[in-house]
Amino acid sequence: MSTNNGAMTVAAIGDLHVMEDSVAPYRELFIEISGEADVLVLCGDLTNFGKTSEAEILAEDIRHCSIPVLGVLGNHDYECGQPEHVAEILHEAGMTVLDEQAVEIDGVGFAGVKGFLGGFGRGELAPFGEPIVKAFVDEALNEARKLENALRTLRTERSVAVLHYSPTIETLEGEPPAIYQYLGSQRLADAIDRFDHVRAVVHGHAHHGKYQGETPRGTPVFNVAQFVCREKFGRPYALLEI
Ligand SMILES: [Fe+2]
Ligand SMILES: [Fe+2]
Repeated sequence: MSTNNGAMTVAAIGDLHVMEDSVAPYRELFIEISGEADVLVLCGDLTNFGKTSEAEILAEDIRHCSIPVLGVLGNHDYECGQPEHVAEILHEAGMTVLDEQAVEIDGVGFAGVKGFLGGFGRGELAPFGEPIVKAFVDEALNEARKLENALRTLRTERSVAVLHYSPTIETLEGEPPAIYQYLGSQRLADAIDRFDHVRAVVHGHAHHGKYQGETPRGTPVFNVAQFVCREKFGRPYALLEI
């Protein structure tokens, strides 16, 4: 809970993967988190297949949260081709689904996008050759651009960038290096590193990755996939002082 010198306690968890036969899967956890943090951030893969029935189950649990809930969707939430319906159900339950539009809570800014894949450094896919390759890279660039635009609208001294895909390979350690390029995009870090106010980046997606890393400019990055948090803390979420 907050806190010394005005810091905000942010709870973050990714990869909930709610299934349609789940019964109140996160209700107790969200009630616990409401007593420990000021804000709850969800880092995508909220549902397992992007079904509205899965979203409804999570929405009921979100209604039991007594602190602000915000976050982004993940690739699993796109699987049924209706991410806007999933987002709408979660929005109706009180969750702020970040995408292009940043929000400010008690002096802390939150900007987020799902992000996309595409690789890092020398492994980054370039927009060259076939139209489909260019379209793929365009998607990665577009997500990075949305994040940059959202971060630019913030007037707060402190902000958190919320992603599903990773902006760095550092938090992917533990995953097979052969799939790093499918787990995130360097372009997300490039967007984040244009700003001085980003105090932390949270992401999910890499279930077997490492908890902490940083962007090239040194902004702290946390992989808060629930499986990573459970291994690190013995509970499925991270608590960050912002
Ligand atoms: Fe996931
Ligand atoms: Fe994912």
